Amino acid sequence: MKPTLKRALVTGGAGFIGSNLALTLRDAGTEVVVIDDFSAGHFKNLVDFDGDVIAADLVDAGAWVDRVGAVDAIFHQAAITDTTVTDQKRMMEVNVEAFRNLLTFAVAGGVKRVVYASSAGTYGAGRIPMKETDATEPMNVYGFSKKVMEATAREFHRLEPGLALVGLRYFNVYGPRESYKGSARSMILQLYQQMRSGKRPRVFKHGEQFRDFIYVKDVVAANLKAVEADSSGVYNVCTGKTTDFNSVITELNQVLGTEFEPEYFENPYSFYQNETKGDPEAAANGIGFTARFSVAEGIRDYFGGKPELAAQAA
Ligand SMILES: NC(=O)c1ccc[n+]([C@@H]2O[C@H](COP(=O)([O-])OP(=O)(O)OC[C@H]3O[C@@H](n4cnc5c(N)ncnc54)[C@H](O)[C@@H]3O)[C@@H](O)[C@H]2O)c1
Repeated sequence: MKPTLKRALVTGGAGFIGSNLALTLRDAGTEVVVIDDFSAGHFKNLVDFDGDVIAADLVDAGAWVDRVGAVDAIFHQAAITDTTVTDQKRMMEVNVEAFRNLLTFAVAGGVKRVVYASSAGTYGAGRIPMKETDATEPMNVYGFSKKVMEATAREFHRLEPGLALVGLRYFNVYGPRESYKGSARSMILQLYQQMRSGKRPRVFKHGEQFRDFIYVKDVVAANLKAVEADSSGVYNVCTGKTTDFNSVITELNQVLGTEFEPEYFENPYSFYQNETKGDPEAAANGIGFTARFSVAEGIRDYFGGKPELAAQAA
């Protein structure tokens, strides 16, 4: 990150990715302000954080606009992140209208850099590998809300060309501080928790579901690259490689020193995304981001040799 940001706003900073980002920025010497309504985030993600924390719903601009102060950049992570939520109005208010409030705040305050979390969910069941130039065909209101966010960002950039807006389409993120996401936590953590409690890991028949898993440290790195960009754009944050659930179980067995066999069961869903895989090239060329962690390396960094973290995750 060059030069060091003086002061940055991280929305959703009590959540999984936002807390990792807030702590990394703070460690790099940036003064960080967090906004979170604690609807899905948890204070325990921020126990090592000593900056300002504003407890507010981003949809209600009056509750936070005058509290934030001047910032050089905004990292927008707040959202309803549970893709199974079907309340369309609330999803659109939180994911789109709150973003509009935030961009209005950025323009009024002369903020020049906004990095925001989009999602691979914008692609739906698109062709593999998923490329930024492909059509977006979201399968649920979550993916749709991210698609509308990207359109909103384009519109703000058109009206305010000096504002660089970079959207990051994260693929399947895993890593420390995701345990408070409940059923929306990564498959890697779910399988780890089953195995650590002595149970066989349960996966749909026959474990051949492929995911482009990306480690949270890489996602933070992508944000720090994106904030340096002078122009707006939307980029995949992915590894470009896929790992099936059977291979995840093999890696977890190695870290745990166990030999669990997967327990296969019938997939109850009529629609299920069997594969996610992004094309990492545009991010490499556009913002200079390439993932560093393979799944094996990410799993070792996440769980290996850190009993306190493993206990927290279990
Ligand atoms: N984790 C993934 O695999 C993944 C994949 C694709 C995209 N994303 C996106 O990345 C971002 C961060 O996701 P995460 O995994 O850290 O999820 P998370 O649920 O842990 O974090 C989201 C945070 O936003 C907060 N929030 C929700 N509504 C709010 C509101 N109205 N006002 C203020 N705060 C609010 C929540 O309390 C939570 O702390 C989200 O935008 C998500 O859509 C995540």
